[in-house]
Amino acid sequence: MSEHVNDSYVQRAHKEGYRSRAAYKLLEIDARDHILKSGMVVVDLGATPGGWSQVAASKVGGGGKVIAVDLLPLHPINGVEFIQGDFCDDSVLAQIENKLGSKKIGLVISDMSPNISGINMTDQARAMHLAELALDFSLLHLQSSGAFLVKVFQGAGFEEYIKLMRSYYARVVTRKPDSSRDRSNELYLLGTFKI
Ligand SMILES: C[S@@+](CC[C@H](N)C(=O)[O-])C[C@H]1O[C@@H](n2cnc3c(N)ncnc32)[C@H](O)[C@@H]1O
Repeated sequence: MSEHVNDSYVQRAHKEGYRSRAAYKLLEIDARDHILKSGMVVVDLGATPGGWSQVAASKVGGGGKVIAVDLLPLHPINGVEFIQGDFCDDSVLAQIENKLGSKKIGLVISDMSPNISGINMTDQARAMHLAELALDFSLLHLQSSGAFLVKVFQGAGFEEYIKLMRSYYARVVTRKPDSSRDRSNELYLLGTFKI
């Protein structure tokens, strides 16, 4: 807890009105890779408390759309349409599709992490499963020039996952933003140019 309170990104988020320090991870990745564009449709998977959705909504502007999904409630954010539910459920997928209508997505971002059980193997398997579902979703719904950003954890299944992403995206890069804690084995993978 004291690490969290003393964390400079937590303090900055508080000052700058972001709901989470995670906002800075997306801001950093976007500053380098320019994935968020005005007018774009973005789907944010695992959105609560909402830092990434805030960043996405401000970058896509009024002409764009952000659809956010989480198991937990999300306090409303201007420009963000929220669906509360489990991304693994078909009914949640149907709700996303319903909100999309005929629109294709320009960017899928997934920061989903499962509830930590403390059993390493189980947690890693759950995290990989969520990342796989997010990848499947991106392949179905992204426009061909779109991008897919996903959080993964280094461990069992990680190498296979990158290989899989490389079979679907012409360019896959790994990103470890400064705002991602050093001791965390999380990494972000960014796929562009769907094959
Ligand atoms: C690290 S937090 C996301 C932080 C967020 N990107 C932000 O900027 O505030 C991970 C989120 O993933 C959500 N999550 C985990 N499993 C999920 C699932 N199966 N469906 C939807 N959301 C899920 C959790 O409820 C949690 O809110």
